[in-house]
Amino acid sequence: MKRRVGVLISGRGSNMMALVEAARAPDCPFEIALVATDKPDAPGLAWAIEQGIPTFAQSPRGKPKPEYEAAIDAALRAAGVEAIALAGYMRLLSEDFVARWRGRIVNIHPSLLPKYKGLDTHARALAMGDSVAGCSVHLVTEELDGGEVLGQAEVRIDARDTAESLAERVLAAEHRLYPQVLAEWLCR
Ligand code: GRF
Repeated sequence: MKRRVGVLISGRGSNMMALVEAARAPDCPFEIALVATDKPDAPGLAWAIEQGIPTFAQSPRGKPKPEYEAAIDAALRAAGVEAIALAGYMRLLSEDFVARWRGRIVNIHPSLLPKYKGLDTHARALAMGDSVAGCSVHLVTEELDGGEVLGQAEVRIDARDTAESLAERVLAAEHRLYPQVLAEWLCR
C-alpha cells in the first residue's frame, strides 16, 4: 500500500508537481492524497484540480489560527493523509499543529541547511561569496527550517550567477531531490 501524503502549497507548486509526477511510478512508495493551500488563487492549485487530485483551498483571512489549522487538519485526516510535505507553503504552522503531526511533516528549503534559514537564500549565498548552494529536505519542528536534515543536493555557484539564475538551477535540483528523499524517508 502506498503511503498517503498531503502537500501544502502557497504558490506556483512546482515541487508539488514533481511529487505528483514521481508518485505516478508504480514502485513509488507514496501517493498524493490531498493538495491543500492557504491561497485559493495559487497557480499550483489549478494544476492539482486539473489532475483530479483532491484539494483543500481556504484563505485564513479573518479566522483565528487554531480554527484555520483545525480545518486543514480535518481535511488531511479525511483524506487519510499519513505524512505532510510542505512545498512552498508560506505560513508558519503553530506549535500545536506541529505537535499533532510530530515527525510526520517534511519541508524543502532552497539552501544547504543549517545555512540560510528563512527567506532570500540565494541572494544571501551570493553575498557571502559561497561557491556552492543547494537545497535541503528536512523534518519540520517548531523551529523555522530547524528540523533534522533528511537529504541535500548541491548546486555549484557560477561567477555570473544572479539570485534568479541560481534559483532556477536550485529549483531543478529540488524537483529531483524532494521525491527521492520523501520516498526514502517514508520507507525507513
Ligand atoms: C521552493 O524554492 C522551495 O524550496 C521553497 O519555496 C519554493 C517553492 O516553489 N520552500 P514551488 O511552489 O514548489 O514552485
